[in-house]
Amino acid sequence: MKKRKIYDLHKGWTSLTAEVLYFQTRLRYADKHPSKEMKFLKKRLSKNGGVALDVACGTGRHMFQLLRDGFNVHGLDASGDTLKLAKMMAKQEGFSTKFFRQKMEEMNVPNRYDSIYIRYGSFQIMADRQKAQEVLRRFWKHLKPGGQVIIDIWVTYEARNINLVKKNPEPEISEPVDSVSGDGKISTKYWEKNLDVLNQTYLAERICELIKDKKVIKSEMHRQTVRWFYKYEFIMMLEKAGFAKIKLYGEYTEKPATKHSGMISYTARRPE
Ligand SMILES: C[S@@+](CC[C@H](N)C(=O)[O-])C[C@H]1O[C@@H](n2cnc3c(N)ncnc32)[C@H](O)[C@@H]1O
Repeated sequence: MKKRKIYDLHKGWTSLTAEVLYFQTRLRYADKHPSKEMKFLKKRLSKNGGVALDVACGTGRHMFQLLRDGFNVHGLDASGDTLKLAKMMAKQEGFSTKFFRQKMEEMNVPNRYDSIYIRYGSFQIMADRQKAQEVLRRFWKHLKPGGQVIIDIWVTYEARNINLVKKNPEPEISEPVDSVSGDGKISTKYWEKNLDVLNQTYLAERICELIKDKKVIKSEMHRQTVRWFYKYEFIMMLEKAGFAKIKLYGEYTEKPATKHSGMISYTARRPE
């Protein structure tokens, strides 16, 4: 077996991680029953109308479900590998939309949007606080007056994630998925470690392996530092970036977030 290659996910999800995202994107696209997460997102995008931007769109897991249902959505991601697969799928499914290869902290696109959303904790990739603030400033700049942001944040890891405080955290092992070429399977092992309660960060690591005819053809380690944000801290960051009408929803429901919510969706508006 070849030596395991190490990838920094802050540069974007590449190689086998992009293929895993693509598998999930196709799976969700084929399923016509919207998840709680999609219902929540669609309701908000419908209210604002116009054009939305999916930041850290990956291979388009949310985008393609929205395009299929008639929404107008563009995608932005730092990774050339994920965007290549997203563009391939857009062509296959007959969608013409725009994709931008940019880092969200450097985002500069020639459009102003009605909605900008970033899903499923992808904002928490911004482990550097200044970069996180800069991302919010750029979101504000790329919205039309009255435009909205929708940002999901996982809650307080040190309190919730018992596995993370263990010295040797147990890996989560996912069901292997088909590679893009279809002649192999990709297995993933994932764990979190190096909890830093003071700086609100931890290290997320995953080993992805491509297996063909029972042989490991590629073995990769993908790592990234992830940050969590507390409620009042994040509200202040949104206010500092110029946002108003900040609301917090819990677990992709229409109900306000509570102390039991594991996932909080923040919505806020650029004032008119
Ligand atoms: C967990 S994946 C989520 C992808 C997609 N939103 C989904 O839910 O399937 C995180 C995505 O963020 C992208 N990414 C990482 N750092 C980024 C950055 N600085 N700017 C823009 N995208 C970034 C990765 O390339 C990857 O596609």
